[in-house]
Amino acid sequence: MEKLIINGGKRLTGTVKISGAKNAVLPVIAATLLGQDKETCLEEVPNLDDVNTISEVLRTLGVKVSHDKEEGKLYVDATSIENITAPYDLVRKMRASFLIMGPLLARLGEAKISLPGGCAIGTRPIDLHLKGFEALGAQISIGHGYIEAKAPNGLKGSRIYLDFPSVGATENILMAAAMAEGQSIIENPAQEPEIVDLANYLNIMGAKIRGAGTNVIKVEGAKKLIAHDYTIIPDRIEAGTYMIAAAMTKGDVYIENAISEHIKPVIAKLKEAGVTVIEDIEGIRVTCDRRPKGVDIKTLPYPGFPTDMQAQFMAMLTISEGTSVVTETVFENRFMHVDELRRMGAKIKIDGRTSVVHGVDTLTGCQVKATDLRAGAAIVLAGLVAEGETQIGYIHHIDRGYDNLVEKLVALGADIKRVDQ
Ligand code: EPU
Repeated sequence: MEKLIINGGKRLTGTVKISGAKNAVLPVIAATLLGQDKETCLEEVPNLDDVNTISEVLRTLGVKVSHDKEEGKLYVDATSIENITAPYDLVRKMRASFLIMGPLLARLGEAKISLPGGCAIGTRPIDLHLKGFEALGAQISIGHGYIEAKAPNGLKGSRIYLDFPSVGATENILMAAAMAEGQSIIENPAQEPEIVDLANYLNIMGAKIRGAGTNVIKVEGAKKLIAHDYTIIPDRIEAGTYMIAAAMTKGDVYIENAISEHIKPVIAKLKEAGVTVIEDIEGIRVTCDRRPKGVDIKTLPYPGFPTDMQAQFMAMLTISEGTSVVTETVFENRFMHVDELRRMGAKIKIDGRTSVVHGVDTLTGCQVKATDLRAGAAIVLAGLVAEGETQIGYIHHIDRGYDNLVEKLVALGADIKRVDQ
């Protein structure tokens, strides 16, 4: 097992280039299953364990996938699909594997996917995905740990209201509706930039989707979608994580390739905390020459403050001046980083979905573990400013979502290395 060793106290300076977005590339890879007639080349594909897992899922379907990690290109040939089953071993590793259900149903009229099981950040049901498929005319059955969906006569366009703007359900339903017969209307969909990226990709393949990024999406089903090359948007959460790293280390970092429109609430909250954020069309510069001030944050679906930035922002609040209140409304159990931050000297109290953070002068390095992806990012950030050495275990969680994290931080001046335990 590998771990990360950080010697805290180094000021970060320089430029870091943001990679393609994990949460955009995963649905786009699932959507390649809809593309017929030729091979697809995806560009700006990050080198992440989650990309390896979804590629493996596609290979179990008999689809050809090859990843040129140096060039950041992923080639998918889904001209023929031989299998419709995604097994437990892969779905257990990554819940986003479930995103292949929509495209398989749309293209082949059936799909069989293992139920994902437990998750570190909440129960994460898939009822909204299934309600959407049923509305489009699919029959759903659950047994022996698998969900089977069938639409032998094809899917039919329909009006679907989502009780909550779930990102995954919106994506899955969008992919299914893209090839359903007639018009579909998705009301109260998720509005994240990753939804817009997926809709853009589907439209390039011949789909007719309007309204992605707003609160109503209209889809005219197409008979056939043709494979097409595509470039993935930059990762707003990776960008936000480096913004916090710059602020916490009182650094001066230019975050190249970051799209500031995608990360407005994080920028606003950093400014409120007294951090300097300068936006331009190529990226975002973050500088900080004083201790940040405590601010309150509340996570919400886009365009609210992203839940995927809550843990990292809390890491900054642990060393900020004064008291801050952090409220998590998207997931019910996303405070796993609190215990690890407390081990490093943070003063945090949890009451249900709210954490109260009393800023301390210094954190101290110790042995901690990454309990999930963003919790892992939060303790890396804490380690960058902690006194002495921080050792982080269970880093496979971090490898799921941060492309070349160690190399990028070292280039900015951090003292961080990966060692084999
Ligand atoms: N939900 C339901 N029923 C459903 C689907 C979701 O009740 O059928 C609930 C969930 O339990 C959760 C809330 O809705 O409480 C939000 O879930 P959502 O479906 O929006 O999340 P997701 O699609 O499973 C994606 C990202 C997550 C990110 C969330 C929220 C991908 C691959 N994952 O998950 O990313 O936190 O949206 O923005 O896009 C991460 O990158 O660290 C990560 C967890």
